[in-house]
Parts: sequence; C-alpha cells; structure tokens
Amino acid sequence: MDSFLDFVNTIPWWAWVIFALGLVAIRDIFLQRTHTITHNYPIVGHLRYWLESIGPEMRQYFVANNREELPFNRIERSWIYASAKQENNYEGFGTDRDIYAHQHIFIKNRLLAFKVPENHPNTKDKTFLPCAKVIGAFNKRKKPYRPASVINVSAMSFGSLSAAAVKAMNKGVAKSGAYHNTGEGGLSPYHKRGGDVVFHFGTGYFGVRNTEGGFSLDKLISLTTENPCIKAVEIKLSQGAKPGKGGVLPAAKISREIAQIRGVEIGKDVLSPATHSAFSSVPELIELIEEIAEGTGLPVGIKGAIGKLDQWEELADLMKKTGKGPDFITVDGGEGGTGAAPPSFADHVSLPWVYGFSSLYKVFQERDLTSRLVFIGSGKLGFPAKAAMAFAMGIDCINVAREAMMSIGCIQAQVCHTNRCPTGIATQNKWLQRGISVPLKADRLAQYFKTFRKEFLEITHAAGYEHPCEFTMEDIHVNVDDDYLHSDLKLTYGYEKTQVPFRGMQELVDCNYLGGKVFSGNQ
Ligand SMILES: Cc1cc2nc3c(=O)[nH]c(=O)nc-3n(C[C@H](O)[C@H](O)[C@H](O)COP(=O)(O)O)c2cc1C
Repeated sequence: MDSFLDFVNTIPWWAWVIFALGLVAIRDIFLQRTHTITHNYPIVGHLRYWLESIGPEMRQYFVANNREELPFNRIERSWIYASAKQENNYEGFGTDRDIYAHQHIFIKNRLLAFKVPENHPNTKDKTFLPCAKVIGAFNKRKKPYRPASVINVSAMSFGSLSAAAVKAMNKGVAKSGAYHNTGEGGLSPYHKRGGDVVFHFGTGYFGVRNTEGGFSLDKLISLTTENPCIKAVEIKLSQGAKPGKGGVLPAAKISREIAQIRGVEIGKDVLSPATHSAFSSVPELIELIEEIAEGTGLPVGIKGAIGKLDQWEELADLMKKTGKGPDFITVDGGEGGTGAAPPSFADHVSLPWVYGFSSLYKVFQERDLTSRLVFIGSGKLGFPAKAAMAFAMGIDCINVAREAMMSIGCIQAQVCHTNRCPTGIATQNKWLQRGISVPLKADRLAQYFKTFRKEFLEITHAAGYEHPCEFTMEDIHVNVDDDYLHSDLKLTYGYEKTQVPFRGMQELVDCNYLGGKVFSGNQ
C-alpha cells in the first residue's frame, strides 16, 4: 500500500490533468451518443456548450447596448433599480433614444403646467395617486374598493415566486398603499403581511377548489370572510404570455405547504386545464361573477389577453342588456411575462397591449359601458411615460409583475421556469431564497411604486392636469410610418376615451372606499 502511495506521489500534476482529459475524451467518443459535437471534437467540443451557456450574461454585461435588450433593456432596468433604491435615477446630457423611431411616445406638455395649490393632497404627499374610479360602485357591490395606488402588483403565485419574494412584495404594497394580486396559487400566509389583496384564480381553482378539482363558492366565501385583506376577486380567463394554455404542476414541486395552500394532494401531478369547468359560455361567466359578488360582497373582475372580439362583444351586449357583469377588466398584453410558457405562445398568441386594449375598449365604448367599468392594464406598463399613454387610452390602474420583481432584485436572468433563479425570487430553493432580506426588499418595492407615482404625477402636471385620468388620446402622439409621420392616439386607434368623472384629488382622499392606509397627509 505504501509503495502504491509513493508511486502516486511521484506523478506530476500535469500528468493528472492529461489523465482526466483522457477520461473525458473516452467518455465523449465511446460512452455518450447525445452530442455529436463532443463526439466529433472531444474535449474542445465542451467549450462550445460552456460559451453558449454564459452567452446571455456576456451579452447583457458587455455587448448589448443600453436600449437593445428585451424584455427590458438596461436603461429600463436601471431606472427601476435606482428608483427602488432611492438613488439618482436621472440621466445626463439628454436622451439617448432615437425619438424619431417607430412607435416612440410623445406626451404633449402645456404652456403653463398644472400648479399644485397649497393644501392640495399632493403638496402634503407628492406620491399620493389613487385610482380615480371606485371598483364595484356601478354594480352596488357591498364592499366597493378604490385602489389607493394606480400602480399595483400583478398576478404572480406563491409557487412561481418564493415565499421570501411574496412576503417582500406584500409588505411593500402595504407600505405604498397598493394592492397585491395573489396569482393562481391561492392565498398563502406570505400574502397576509398587511397589504390589500386581490384574490385571483384560474382553471385550477387553487385555494378554492373542491375535491373533484372544480370551483367551490363556499370555499371562496369563507376565504374572503376570514381574510378581510381581500378587496376584490379576479377570474383569470387568459394571460398575454400563454392564452388558452393549461399547465401541470409536477408532483415533485408540491411541498406539504403548497399542497395545503392550493388544496391539492401531495405526491400527484396537478393539472390546470386549458379551460374553466365552472362555466362554458359568456352568460354562465356572468352568472358566476354575480354569484361571487353576491356571496362575498366584493367587486369581481376578469383578466384576459385580447385576440378575437366576438365573445367580448357578446359579454358587452349582455352587460348592457342585463345590467350585470364584471366590475373590472384586466387587459394583459401579448408582451406579458410568465413563470413558464412555450415560446410559440409567448411570442405569437394574443395581441400586443396597445392593439389589444384599443380594440377592446371600443367594444365597451360603443355600448356606453366604459364608465361602469374599471380598466386595469398590464404588459410592460410600469414606466411613467408608458402609463401616461395607457391612461390616455382609457386605463384606470396598472398592474406590474416583472417590474415589481426587478424592484426587489430580479436581474432578468430569464430562468423562472428552471427553479434556479439566482436572486431567490422565482424559485422554491431555500438556499437561494435566503439571500433575500425581506424588510429591505419591501422598502425597495414601496420606493419604486412611490417614485413611479411621483414621476407620473409630474408628467401629468406638465401636461396641465391634476390626475392622469384626465389625459385624452389627443395628448399623446406616437411616430407612425405613414404620410403623417406622427399622429395622436385618437387618429391612430380611431376613438377618444370616455371622460372619467374627476372632481379633484381631495375627493379621492375623502373616499370611504379608499384602500391602503398610506396617505401621509392624514398621518
Ligand atoms: C413569475 C410570473 C408569474 C405569473 N403568474 C401569473 C398568474 O398566476 N396568473 C396570471 O394571470 N398572470 C401571471 N403572470 C403574468 C403577470 O401577472 C402579468 O400579467 C404580465 O407579466 C404582464 O405584466 P409585466 O409586463 O409587468 O410583467 C405571471 C408573470 C410572471 C413574471
């Protein structure tokens, strides 16, 4: 034995390296049949796979220019990071954007900006910007709700996000007066950290499902009664990244905790079908909305990505005829994010936000229904200028998903579907989650929302208005590639939005249904 160890000790380090490479070469040539490149070019072939794996990071850090990347370019990400950290989020020397580029947005400023009077709510709190409409007011729901923030956290479930991320987001919305949409995974303990909540369910009915996997109204009623933080219910019909696509939650991902929150069995794959079992026609959808509203007292809305309009028209016709229907509609753009979707869906199914929303809004406007609905938009709208365009088109509130993730540290690694999110946000890996400091990240989300609202208000004032609900289609221009070169939204999309009845910010402060408890002027 000693002589063998003495012999091993005499072998130089480079001989070990050659020996190891020899083993890799034998494996590449004789033992594996899956990679042609490594078979044909043993050892060096591995370099190709390694370079391919670090390519996205290399491009992000060294190659791509400031405005080049998608879904969010470096300037957009940096603006969110700086806003969330309360750092300097300005840019010097002037814009680095090609402002003649196709679809570039211009907001028309007024000669004299809106002057905020003394004792105005925004003199006391420059970030106070609630929704100008009350959700559920028209339908006289028992518990109407006015979101205290025009920017809110979009549907993302506990399951697709980590417990630490959900906790940070909920504490963040509590600090900024916004609401937190649960996403499809049910109401977890991490959603109950003080923020207003919109309870969202899809075809899996997680958290409100019966033993057969169908929808249970009784469960929803007890859930909302036991959790007064729930201010509204959202039925998911589709989302921009994967409309009409079901999903499987693999047994391996179902921990005891997730099983309990979602109301599913441990050890069995769980199917989210492509379609709902609780209704199969538009009249049945309206019936369900009314049953939920009646049973819970809460406003009820629907979320959808826009494609064909025939069933939306049927919905609008029935709403007009019966006086019933959703209190709010969340319109998600085809550019929307997801935890996981096939690229063929994410890239091609459903319309981009501006095309989808403009066609949908007209359906409701033609039937004189826009005033009774609250329109919520999502799809890369978490930037003040984009939001101004959305408000001019008829939106009353926006939801943000990936922007909220970035405010708590997401680096756009785009690996949400692998459970290996390096920032601990979109993973169930306990080690990776431990890197998240919940109090710090809660502050960051709150700060991003407040900075967003402050800048959005400043843009609104520059255009001569007190509240962004006053933006009209003629206030915003986009570059178009035809003889006009640029045109206002009214001409581009062929409608003018219905005026939102707004009688001053003070009325919103005084509203009994105002959610969140954050207006610093009252403290
Ligand atoms: C990680 C993740 C999980 C999501 N989960 C849901 C979901 O459960 N239900 C849903 O309707 N949308 C879900 N979405 C879509 C978002 O709610 C949102 O509609 C979309 O990302 C557009 O907003 P954004 O551009 O601000 O990200 C998810 C998005 C992400 C990034």
